[in-house]
Amino acid sequence: MAGKLTVVVGPMYSGKTSTLLSMVEIYTLGRKNIKVFKPLIDNRYSTDHVVSHTGQKVLAVNVKSSAEVTRAVEAESGRLDAVFIDEVNFFDPQLLEVVQQIIFDGIDVFCVGLDMSYKHRPFAITASLMAIADEVVKKKAVCHVCGEYNATVTHRTSNHIDSEIDVGGMDKYIAVCRDCYKKLNPNK
Ligand code: ADP
Ligand code: TMP
Ligand code: MG
Ligand code: ZN
Repeated sequence: MAGKLTVVVGPMYSGKTSTLLSMVEIYTLGRKNIKVFKPLIDNRYSTDHVVSHTGQKVLAVNVKSSAEVTRAVEAESGRLDAVFIDEVNFFDPQLLEVVQQIIFDGIDVFCVGLDMSYKHRPFAITASLMAIADEVVKKKAVCHVCGEYNATVTHRTSNHIDSEIDVGGMDKYIAVCRDCYKKLNPNK
């Protein structure tokens, strides 16, 4: 039977990584064989663990590219039940084919990542994964400005570079609702 693809997206602090950790726990309690991956660029809290903003963590394989995911999965020779990938927004476009192959090989895949950058632009790889997913979960955070539980976007508070790829946490980013985002970015 083919595997199932679940994609969990949302702004920063919306509980994406926490959701991944809960699913890892469920598979582990069920004595399933799993592997967790994270991109090399994400060195925010740790290089060899997926870590949530609350400090909960799980051991993860640090990969430079999606090809390394394929190699690691193939090395398990069909023993894996599920694959978990955090921060898919940092991956190369080939991750789409890699994930497709894994689900066709009968392994469940959980992909977690930002749907949009602080510029309110979709991350293309996340959008593609959402398109082929069996289930998409859109999470919300508490708006840092108005305090409502309706934050769907991320605002960058530091403006030192223009790049849409810039690892960080509260030092650089807050989660906001669209109304507060508009006030903070009046040219949108
Ligand atoms: P994500 O991976 O989506 O960035 P995490 O799962 O790592 O999120 O962290 C979620 C946790 O972040 C929450 O459980 C909460 O403790 C904390 N947090 C900090 N700021 C906020 C916020 N504005 N809204 C919701 N949770 C927040
Ligand atoms: P998080 O969703 O688990 O909080 O992690 C998001 C990571 O992505 C964090 O390291 C900051 C980074 N990031 C970008 O590189 N560009 C962006 O536009 C945003 C919003 C976050
Ligand atoms: Mg996270
Ligand atoms: Zn708000």
